[in-house]
Amino acid sequence: MPERFTVTTPIYYVNDVPHIGHAYNEVATDVLARWHRQRGDDTWMLTGTDEHGQKIMRTAAANGVSPQEWTDRLVETAWIPQLELLDIANDDFIRTTDERHKVGVRIFLERLKEAGYIYHGEFEGHYCVGCEEYKTPGDLVPGTGEFEGQQVCAIHSRPLETVREANYFFKLSEFGDRLLALYDERPDYVQPEHVRNEVRQFVKQGLTDLSISRNTFDWGIKVPWDETHVVYVWFEALLNYITANGYGVDEERFARRWPATHIVGKDIARFHAVIWPAMQMAAGIEISDHVFGHGWLLVGGEKMSKSKATGIEPKQITEVFGVDAFRYYFMSAIAFGSDGSFSWEDLDARYHSELANGLGNLASRVIAMVHKYCDGVVPDVEIDADIATLVTDAVARAESAIDAFQIHDGVDAAMSIVERLNGYITEQAPWVLAKDVAQRERLAAVLASNVHGIGAAAIMLAPVMPGSAQKLWTAVGGEGEVAAQPIQRAHEWRGTGRVTTVPPLFPRVEQA
Ligand code: MSP
Repeated sequence: MPERFTVTTPIYYVNDVPHIGHAYNEVATDVLARWHRQRGDDTWMLTGTDEHGQKIMRTAAANGVSPQEWTDRLVETAWIPQLELLDIANDDFIRTTDERHKVGVRIFLERLKEAGYIYHGEFEGHYCVGCEEYKTPGDLVPGTGEFEGQQVCAIHSRPLETVREANYFFKLSEFGDRLLALYDERPDYVQPEHVRNEVRQFVKQGLTDLSISRNTFDWGIKVPWDETHVVYVWFEALLNYITANGYGVDEERFARRWPATHIVGKDIARFHAVIWPAMQMAAGIEISDHVFGHGWLLVGGEKMSKSKATGIEPKQITEVFGVDAFRYYFMSAIAFGSDGSFSWEDLDARYHSELANGLGNLASRVIAMVHKYCDGVVPDVEIDADIATLVTDAVARAESAIDAFQIHDGVDAAMSIVERLNGYITEQAPWVLAKDVAQRERLAAVLASNVHGIGAAAIMLAPVMPGSAQKLWTAVGGEGEVAAQPIQRAHEWRGTGRVTTVPPLFPRVEQA
């Protein structure tokens, strides 16, 4: 039986177009999904859009269109094209305005109500529309500039709105002990460690019940037993992970796909590792496999965001460096789980040293030599033992890195082969061996070892740089699709075929 790997991105707010912070999240999830698929796991990657709530309703109004028109427009012109631009191989795309989502949300709510976890009560809270979240005093910071003297949201730097309503509540407060037990029993449920600690600390301080409906606006999913209320946007958004997979309507499909692993930014880890598991406990569904909270892309030391006008659009980068370099850069340059500052200089430097000079140059040199010295046929000989060991170790290291969500380390393991081969070529100097007939066997072993290493690296880099890895694979004589090669056995591949020519994979980029 193949292992199940269902992996999700958060669903993105469509109040604006995507920036590279969203793209980062999307690419990381895609790399994990592609990696597992290439291992032969029963993989399912879900992504989508979060379309209800006040933030989107207000944006639509400011643009003079209905919320539905606005979300349709943004999904079609920005969010779906972003997946194509970034070469994301998602299996599904859910919109919270989809009928399947609305149906599943209603079923879930009815079940929670029947189980006694929902009640009606009075409420007063302080709401950040940017976060679509009620905040506690601990979440706020002193305002600056026009908000000097006021407390503001730490993420959006704007004051909160006071909400006073009679709402429906979820009995979140009853789940504190069970949540703490979950974090203890399954230490790898919330990762990385600092996010787990933060979540644990938050729960330890005590949970209050959660207001899960609003009745002062109507852009949302109606509460099934009281149509004067719409469901709180976060409460319904979290349900996308199950409404996409047949919850309540197709139990067989649901059993196959659930539970899932959630890849989210650390800012929304609390929703995924506190509220969401409590909802799962209340409804009697299995708890998610993992919640991984990755870091932020920073600009000037702050989270990159459109609302602060620090957003860079992915195509600004892909137009210059190409999609594979985009994917590679963000996956290798930032330790997954930590924050990272984006800079054009760093991107440019790594692109040229690691991709153009490192990988691209190695491949073109080796292939040229196989043409020149072996008539284009990879010699069918024993490869050097130290190269074989290096590749075997790199595969093992990458495999455990991916299991631990250390994507950067997985990429590094693949690139360690490239780095070593570049040194190995210089040491072995095949062009010198070629001048001596007595060294024919040695020359064959050196070239075969290089081809082996490049082929294995192509297999391991396929989840990160699908297009370039395929070109590399074909160039070294690999057959068929590189993504069809079992990644955990990349070290077993031996090139014996005919090399072709390698197109320029990473052409030099002149800085503007
Ligand atoms: N709609 C909610 C998620 C609901 S999931 C049930 C939401 N949407 S969002 O569009 O604001 O953010 C989507 C994801 O993008 C989040 O994981 C967030 O952390 C991530 N990022 C937004 N800006 C980011 C950076 N600057 N850096 C890294 N990730 C960033 O929250």
